[in-house]
Amino acid sequence: MSLFVQLMSLLVFGSILANGRVMISKHVNILSDEMIDEINQLDTTWKAGRNFDIDTPIEDLFSLLGVKRSSNQVRLPLKIHNIDEVEAEPIPIEFDARKHWPNCLSISLIRDQGSCGSCWAVAATEVMSDRICIHSNGIKQVNISAQHLVSCCTTCGVGCSGGDLIAAWKYYKTNGIVSGGQYNSHQGCQPYLLPECSHTGTVNGTRPPCGKLEPTPACSNKCETGYSVLFNDDKHYASHVYSIEKNVTSLQYEIMKNGPVEADFTVYSDFFHYKSVNGTRPPCGDAKPTPPCSNKCETGYNVSFYDDKHYASHIYSIENNVTSLQYEIMKNGPVEAELTVYSDFFHYKSGVYQNLTNDLKGYHAVKILGWGIENGTPYWLCANSWNDEWGDHGYFKIRRDTNECDIMDNLNAGIPLL
Ligand SMILES: *[C@@H]1O[C@H](CO)[C@@H](O)[C@H](O)[C@H]1NC(C)=O
Ligand SMILES: *[C@@H]1O[C@H](CO)[C@@H](O)[C@H](O)[C@H]1NC(C)=O
Ligand SMILES: *[C@@H]1O[C@H](CO)[C@@H](O)[C@H](O)[C@H]1NC(C)=O
Ligand SMILES: *[C@@H]1O[C@H](CO)[C@@H](O)[C@H](O)[C@H]1NC(C)=O
Ligand SMILES: *[C@@H]1O[C@H](CO)[C@@H](O)[C@H](O)[C@H]1NC(C)=O
Ligand SMILES: *[C@@H]1O[C@H](CO)[C@@H](O)[C@H](O)[C@H]1NC(C)=O
Ligand SMILES: *[C@@H]1O[C@H](CO)[C@@H](O)[C@H](O)[C@H]1NC(C)=O
Repeated sequence: MSLFVQLMSLLVFGSILANGRVMISKHVNILSDEMIDEINQLDTTWKAGRNFDIDTPIEDLFSLLGVKRSSNQVRLPLKIHNIDEVEAEPIPIEFDARKHWPNCLSISLIRDQGSCGSCWAVAATEVMSDRICIHSNGIKQVNISAQHLVSCCTTCGVGCSGGDLIAAWKYYKTNGIVSGGQYNSHQGCQPYLLPECSHTGTVNGTRPPCGKLEPTPACSNKCETGYSVLFNDDKHYASHVYSIEKNVTSLQYEIMKNGPVEADFTVYSDFFHYKSVNGTRPPCGDAKPTPPCSNKCETGYNVSFYDDKHYASHIYSIENNVTSLQYEIMKNGPVEAELTVYSDFFHYKSGVYQNLTNDLKGYHAVKILGWGIENGTPYWLCANSWNDEWGDHGYFKIRRDTNECDIMDNLNAGIPLL
């Protein structure tokens, strides 16, 4: 009888069985009630709910998935915890970095990336903040600036249109990153410049709806008005300057390797009328001022930009091994992970998430801060960056014994230079 009921529900909802797991058909509309109902009908390890308004444009949803892997990126050196270390300190059944380091307040902070595919930077700076506190035994509390990283790390990717985790960690090591809290917090040197918004649409939140992806904040060399340090005192210098030979390949390579170049060119009268036929950008009247990448701290913050920078002493990846990751979190704190996102993930509300559809939607970056077992299902405890209206108050649990959504494949972390 119960099997019959189960079969009925499978038929009704058009689900299919594969690899011992019941999956939802790709043809179910992502934001529909049917999708949510179908997930809950499966009575699996997690519950779905409406995180995103039904009218949310699907591109807005996908633009939150801001991991863009650069193909030429070399993985960070692999950190190996040897078996003696692990045996010396057994791994507990359950671990939650928030409870393990209760004095490190950043660990339990859920950030909001806003209308920006900056998860790669938000998750990285969260982990950096956590580890600075952990490695200073709770003495140094700082929110590392996602703003600085997303706007200024040109090797990382394309800012709000996505970036690379490994590059973000390298930037931390070589360049340093200043402090900066949430939007409008006026905490630290460079607080986040894009407002918090309701990723749920207007469903239940206190924040305005997110709307379209914001333009990537651009780099500028201007000092913020009212900042007390002189511009010249903040100047950086090139180690060498050069021209580029008249060769297409050379110029392409130069732009690829070192960024844009300055050129002059001959102007004919028609040039003034240049206009894209059907631009993707909003009209100028509606455009918001671009938040600059500046080398200055916010007005009123009395530490200089360079004095405020934080660095890693070393950075590394963690092997795809449950024990290794547990040990790493226990010893050194939360880590940044990359997640393959399937369409059902958007609806996560509670329980232990496992993907129930093959409808791959993109790659996301999150923080792993602990683990445990819920109703017999082992899980990783993770923090998302879609503010605390999403999921389980901003958090989610994900199945631990299956490398669920490839969560073990790109684990990155570092030790702060204190
Ligand atoms: C919004 O709030 C109402 C009433 O508090 C609740 O019933 C509903 O489930 C909430 N919706 C979401 C998407 O959280
Ligand atoms: C994971 O690492 C631990 C500790 O180094 C080791 O004992 C174990 O064999 C590894 N597991 C796998 C599946 O490689
Ligand atoms: C970090 O940001 C949170 C949230 O805005 C804030 O409560 C906390 O005070 C900040 N920490 C520091 C050290 O500024
Ligand atoms: C441009 O430079 C590339 C790389 O140095 C070289 O292989 C190519 O022959 C050059 N092309 C021309 C037109 O000189
Ligand atoms: C440009 O936009 C107009 C109006 O939206 C549309 O009718 C037209 O097909 C578009 N042209 C191109 C080349 O996309
Ligand atoms: C900088 O700000 C801190 C905290 O507000 C304050 O304790 C300190 O005296 C200030 N230092 C200077 C030089 O103004
Ligand atoms: C879930 O994700 C894995 C990869 O992590 C993928 O191979 C699989 O097809 C997805 N769907 C299901 C139902 O397992």
